[in-house]
Amino acid sequence: MPRDGFQVGETVELYIESLAFQGLGVGKKDGFVFFVDETSPGDKILAKISSLKKNFGYGYIEKLIEKSNSRTEALCPHFSFCGGCQWQHVKYEEQIFQKEKILAKTLSRPTVKVIPSPNQYGYRNRIRLHWNGEILGMYQRKSSTVFPIETCKIVFPGIANQFEKTRERLKREYSGKPKQVDLFLGESGVINTQITNFDDREYPPFSQVNFEINEQLKKHVTNLIPSSAESILDLYCGSGNFTYLAKQKIDSARVIGVEFNTTSIQEAKKKYSGIEFFSEDVGKFLKKWKETLAKLTVIIDPPRTGCHPEVLDSILKLSPRTIIYVSCDPMTLKRDIQHLQKSSGGNVTLENALGFDMFPQTYHVETVAVLNSSSY
Ligand SMILES: C[S@@+](CC[C@H](N)C(=O)[O-])C[C@H]1O[C@@H](n2cnc3c(N)ncnc32)[C@H](O)[C@@H]1O
Repeated sequence: MPRDGFQVGETVELYIESLAFQGLGVGKKDGFVFFVDETSPGDKILAKISSLKKNFGYGYIEKLIEKSNSRTEALCPHFSFCGGCQWQHVKYEEQIFQKEKILAKTLSRPTVKVIPSPNQYGYRNRIRLHWNGEILGMYQRKSSTVFPIETCKIVFPGIANQFEKTRERLKREYSGKPKQVDLFLGESGVINTQITNFDDREYPPFSQVNFEINEQLKKHVTNLIPSSAESILDLYCGSGNFTYLAKQKIDSARVIGVEFNTTSIQEAKKKYSGIEFFSEDVGKFLKKWKETLAKLTVIIDPPRTGCHPEVLDSILKLSPRTIIYVSCDPMTLKRDIQHLQKSSGGNVTLENALGFDMFPQTYHVETVAVLNSSSY
């Protein structure tokens, strides 16, 4: 069915204006928006239309007419194929600029700065590979087909060096049995392997994937805690990444961490004293909580899906003065901020947002948003 006069299979000339949150380049033809994979802002291309929706279409590059200055060579031999990275072909300064634009637009702010990562490659301290019973690799781009991976340029070289050995082990022990395989750096610098069933939602204890930028993230979150805080509630606290610094900043404060991964909480309890850690679902914890928490700051760092509206409402019932929301998905962050603003009758407002480039070479970005309440 033609949309706005366009047909699937037709070729259109596009100028790529920007990159969208899912990583695709954005170009317009007669005002109609097209999303095209592996393009860079400033590219002039001929795009073949692959599908059409009511208000936009998708295409792929048929010909690169004029290569943008924002392009660079991708380092990884798997780049065009692999579902892991989307932006290796874009210069790093441009990646940051595009993330800043995406955040400003999503959060309706005039500008939002993004702090660059000190390391742009070799920064990941963990990777999840897939073993389909025969092949160990990553998912192909836009597909759940596994392709064999020889290397990964964004992961620590020490982890990438383990791929072959791991493949041999899976062949010996799990031939014909699909598995997911997590390789991650443990506390003592040893690379750990965790093998689970394909659809298990079992993850190794969470840690931020990029140590260097995490240091800056922690500093920022700690600075945002008002020195007048008497209680600090760190929800989705993992193994206490922010919690221990909150306690260090205000030793006299009551500091509570909540996280449902029991291993993470065990680690946190072993490492840090003077903090109350609870191994529980955040929603259930908040429903049961009856005590008053004076001059409260809440830190929230949920998974990509964000917070359930009931969780946000339970947080508001605790009358926090400050909410520090750490998010790895600008869309769910925006949704949850809107809910907090609406549910509080406008008492809670977004004061500030800052991005951290936790995930170079991908469209993902970590954001810290600060919301203050005018009524407490
Ligand atoms: C993005 S991580 C943040 C962890 C920690 N703040 C950090 O910086 O390392 C989200 C954490 O939330 C935990 N989590 C996810 N859903 C949860 C829930 N419903 N209740 C409690 N914890 C949850 C995960 O296990 C994970 O550790």
